[in-house]
Amino acid sequence: MKESINIAVTGKGGTGKSTISTLIIKALYETKKKIILAIDADPNYNLDVKLGLETKRTIGDMREELRKSGDENPGGMSKSQFVEYQLKILIEEGDKFDLLTMGRQEGTGCYCYINNVLRHLIDTLSANYPYIVIDNDAGMEHLSRRTDQHMDFLIIASDATKVGLMTAARIRDMALEMELVHGNVILVVNNAPSPFPEFLDTLVKELSFDNVYIIPYDAEVFDRNARGLSLLDVPRDSSANTMVGCIVKEHLL
Ligand SMILES: Nc1ncnc2c1ncn2[C@@H]1O[C@H](COP(=O)(O)OP(=O)(O)O)[C@@H](O)[C@H]1O
Ligand SMILES: [Mg+2]
Repeated sequence: MKESINIAVTGKGGTGKSTISTLIIKALYETKKKIILAIDADPNYNLDVKLGLETKRTIGDMREELRKSGDENPGGMSKSQFVEYQLKILIEEGDKFDLLTMGRQEGTGCYCYINNVLRHLIDTLSANYPYIVIDNDAGMEHLSRRTDQHMDFLIIASDATKVGLMTAARIRDMALEMELVHGNVILVVNNAPSPFPEFLDTLVKELSFDNVYIIPYDAEVFDRNARGLSLLDVPRDSSANTMVGCIVKEHLL
């Protein structure tokens, strides 16, 4: 089976994961001219807004429906046929990227069978795309359960604080320990003041990240996010766009 390149973006809340994911997707489709698969795996999803789409239904909604149907076959189809059919409907299709929204995690009850079917189908579907960009929450455990796929790149977003950077280092260590990443781990300190404070620079070095990028505060990004607008038309030379462009060019192509 053809392997796609998987890029996961993670980090604590509000550090810019969805913003960075969106700008990566944009840089990838502009360079590769191929359709990218975006997966919003944050239960608090909003990647759709940043990509200028509207999610109507999530994998979580479908999973819940399937669980409620118990042993009955929904719509006269087998569960696996039903999931396959539903997945096609769930994907928001654009001409430059497709979006799959995971929605909320499972509640109490047994989801093992459904999750196995889902994992298999997402892996099969994923093979059709050259790149998959996954916008996550900070919980790496969910990531490992969600698909069998390895991650080629892990991008960890942090704000310009000691707590943020320590969290980023913890996420990196957990991901490496669980052998979730095969390729590079990249730290992105986002929304940072310029010049970058020296004590934070020292801390970043002490935490020994292999690859570090600093994205300054970007007024264009802030304005669009504040208004709930798509980020796809952020000017090419805006600081966030330029920096994400460098990450893509130097690591992801
Ligand atoms: N480089 C940046 N410059 C200015 N504001 C930013 C930048 N990155 C993120 N933000 C702001 O931070 C908020 C959170 O970003 P978001 O991408 O939604 O984070 P997360 O997905 O990690 O929760 C956004 O509403 C936006 O206003
Ligand atoms: Mg987000």
